[in-house]
Amino acid sequence: MSTESDFGSDDIESAETADTTDAIELLTIDHEEMKQLFAEYDLLVIDDASDKERAELAVQICDALTAHTTAEEEIFYPAARDAIDDSELVDEAIEEHASAMALITRIRTMDAADELYDAAVRLLQEAVEQHVLEEEGELFPRVRKSSLDLQSLGEEIALRKEEVLAELLDGEG
Ligand SMILES: [Fe+2]
Repeated sequence: MSTESDFGSDDIESAETADTTDAIELLTIDHEEMKQLFAEYDLLVIDDASDKERAELAVQICDALTAHTTAEEEIFYPAARDAIDDSELVDEAIEEHASAMALITRIRTMDAADELYDAAVRLLQEAVEQHVLEEEGELFPRVRKSSLDLQSLGEEIALRKEEVLAELLDGEG
């Protein structure tokens, strides 16, 4: 009666990405994944990859970033704001998100054949690199020292990211 064809089920995928529920570890893994995706995009540009290939990866980057950004804004930042008692740091992060989201919207509406397409992806990469530096350099260490329950926060973040990604993939499919 047992089926051994569970391979490739959704469970395996989420188990892979969520073997930690520490909020800061989760968000840091996201950052690493983002850097990796941008590095892959660079290679596509160097290889003169087709518009279709570049567009597919760019959309994947935009989706991953949208999920990350949404979870940070809705869950992590409000908790961090209370925990570290420094609104300025969080306000800056939100402002940076706004400019990254504007670039994401632009990339989503652009055609990969547009000669400015790669430049827009490059700008987004720079915005993300800046975001990563500030979060990992300042915000995360401060939150780590606080009394915030990073485990349950991480669970909430992981769930919210999955929801946002599912919505996006639904819209694209
Ligand atoms: Fe982040």
